[in-house]
Amino acid sequence: MAREGFGSRFGAIMALAGSAVGLGNIWKFPYEAGSNGGGAFMLVYLFFVFVIGIPVMLSEFVIGRRGQRNPFGSFKTLTPGTRWFWFGGLSIFAAAIILSYYGTVAGWTLEYVAYAIGDTFHGRSSEDIGLLFSDFVSNSYKPLLWQVGFMVLCGIIIMSGVKNGIERCVKTMMPALFVLILLLDIRACTLDGAAEGLKFLFVPDFSKLTFNSVLNALGQSFFSLSLGMGALMTYASYISRNENLTSISVRVVVADTFVSILAGMAILPAVFAFGVDPSAGPNLVYITLPQVFDAMPLGYVWGIVFFVLLTFAALTSAISLLEVCVAYLTEELKFKRLSATALSTGVIAALGVLCTLSFGPMRDFTIFGRTFFDAFDALSSNIVLPVGGIFICLFVGWKMKTMSVYSELSSGGRYPMGMFRIFMFIVKYVAPAAILLILLGAIGIFK
Ligand code: TRP
Repeated sequence: MAREGFGSRFGAIMALAGSAVGLGNIWKFPYEAGSNGGGAFMLVYLFFVFVIGIPVMLSEFVIGRRGQRNPFGSFKTLTPGTRWFWFGGLSIFAAAIILSYYGTVAGWTLEYVAYAIGDTFHGRSSEDIGLLFSDFVSNSYKPLLWQVGFMVLCGIIIMSGVKNGIERCVKTMMPALFVLILLLDIRACTLDGAAEGLKFLFVPDFSKLTFNSVLNALGQSFFSLSLGMGALMTYASYISRNENLTSISVRVVVADTFVSILAGMAILPAVFAFGVDPSAGPNLVYITLPQVFDAMPLGYVWGIVFFVLLTFAALTSAISLLEVCVAYLTEELKFKRLSATALSTGVIAALGVLCTLSFGPMRDFTIFGRTFFDAFDALSSNIVLPVGGIFICLFVGWKMKTMSVYSELSSGGRYPMGMFRIFMFIVKYVAPAAILLILLGAIGIFK
């Protein structure tokens, strides 16, 4: 049976960009920039994205398209008889862990769409809006319903296949997301006092840059670009053999970075214009922004626009994680797509329940001193993704035949030799060394 793939180049780019653009860009990036010194953080972030992000992404593309399978199967096909497929196994595990806590936050977003539509923020004091959030996330069943509902939504899309499910969904949601975020930017940047926020985002103040913010910038670049665990590898296996992988990766990276900056430009000017603290952390979009919307002319509409946008972003990312598990089950264990989706969705939703309840009834249940949510988050961004990134680079740089890498990058044609050398140099040495540094930093070696 022929393997299903993306139907068009546009579809492939939208799917990859859909995976990359997510809560990481709109929820995490503005608060990371907000709490790590604004412009200086952004410069370091941009450096990592372009110097390390693109080569690591290309490496994932090379493995996935050459292997023509899910991560587990691709490693098995490319290096038969070795144990590299264990790394592919790690991908499936990582996808489940990331998606289980991602679903928690995505579920909150759905509740906030409902709040926005019901005009719930209207006329509340900032304290009240804070309480609204903390009461909601600690409730014992409401966040669960939304989280499980979100997972079911992902399941329905994935069940419908690569073309009819993933591609169809991203082709409508991603362009809509772009339009919505541009609308928000226009609104935010024309507020009185917006300039302060833009200055914060774009004018670097290096005195605020600590070693830790550099590590955060590298971690954020991996998370935001969906790197390090085989999600893009899986999608790359659906890209047609004739497409130029380099040009696709540059487009995806630029789109992802652009959305992060646009999100910063929508959120920070509003935050400054209304005099709230930009380093509010993870609460920024759920507590700070509703206050801002309430104080804005036509804030009712902007609130809805924002949370719908956040939902689209979360959904197109979440399905890329679910697809990793489903591709594994169908290709390696010969499940039908329907049962593979049902099983993956069920297991991940169940794990996600632990994360969702971390803010309420299971708040005191900790592993290594962290709640399930925090443990899953820290384990994946600080450990699994960087380790995965190192393995991916080492595999392409040292294990694959140079000719196979060349032939994949050139799609069977020609590839500029200078560029190929730079790529190989980065994946052999620069990226693994730099990533090892974040990893050591994350474990606290440099503290
Ligand atoms: N990149 C997505 C975001 O920014 C999240 C995501 C999707 C992800 N797939 C991933 C993160 C794979 C790491 C690995 O929200």
